Amino acid sequence: MTAKPYIYVTRQLPAEIIEKLRRFAEVGVWPSEERPVPRDVLLREAAKADGLFAMLSDRIDEELLSAAKRLKVVANLGVGYDNIDVGKATELGVAVCNTPDILTDTTADLTMALILMAGRRLGEALECVKNGRWKSWSPFFMAGTDIHHKTLGIVGMGKIGEAVAERARGFSMKVLYHNRHRKPEAEKRLGAVYRSFDDLLRESDYVVCLTPLTDETRGMFDREAFKKMKPSAFFINVARGAVAVEEDLIEALEKGEIAGAGLDVFAEEPVRPDHPLLKMKQVVPLPHIGSASTETRWAMMERCAENLEAVLSGRPPVNVVNP
Ligand code: DGY
Repeated sequence: MTAKPYIYVTRQLPAEIIEKLRRFAEVGVWPSEERPVPRDVLLREAAKADGLFAMLSDRIDEELLSAAKRLKVVANLGVGYDNIDVGKATELGVAVCNTPDILTDTTADLTMALILMAGRRLGEALECVKNGRWKSWSPFFMAGTDIHHKTLGIVGMGKIGEAVAERARGFSMKVLYHNRHRKPEAEKRLGAVYRSFDDLLRESDYVVCLTPLTDETRGMFDREAFKKMKPSAFFINVARGAVAVEEDLIEALEKGEIAGAGLDVFAEEPVRPDHPLLKMKQVVPLPHIGSASTETRWAMMERCAENLEAVLSGRPPVNVVNP
């Protein structure tokens, strides 16, 4: 009888998911749902693991991969995988799996929520009621900016971008998009219109960033980009914090070069409580919860387990990102 492979799970997960893994593997689990696994523990466990069930807060870099001699697969709980050195993994024959598709609608819903929150000042309004600052109905009390019939500019027209465009149609928005490649099918189906990055910035009332973090996209929303936006426009980021230069965003908000921002992601997460962005009333900050519905998180965990089982039993996984 051959020994079962060893999987290390970097966060406490529901017993049902761990059970599912135990059917085909020995399983080690970092015993906290909130605290990420410390680096030294991750390195030690990865060195003896055949599979890693990883979170996007785990750095799966060259140091880890080179020392993980038995490793065959990393299943990342998320669609993004910028925490993983995919080039090195590929060179070493390690499959990198993610969880696309199943989180598309949930993340698109959250994107619309951020647009609504930022435009209609919902966070501020909520605070106001809770803190007893609602004194009377008055004509411009908590008046925000409309969403309907405005122009939405989507940067990064992947599946989530398309799902946002679909929702935006329900709000009678005009949809522009910018992407590495044009998407004629999406243009036809969703009425989305292609624009260069600069034109999209100039024309949009809500600029939504949904691009993956790569060498190409890191810092693409910088001082110059924010200057091109309308002073009445909002920047919405549901991708990765590092796609924007935070100091430049702060400057643009301070100078009134843009009206506000909705941010589900930050360059450093969790964002420190004294971060200048958190002090601005025109910024709606969320704690990276794009795909965080219970249904979707279950589906993502199930998918990671399926991907691990497939690779460790010599079958192709459902999702693999290596070229
Ligand atoms: C992802 O899947 O990459 C998201 O950021 C997780 O919520």
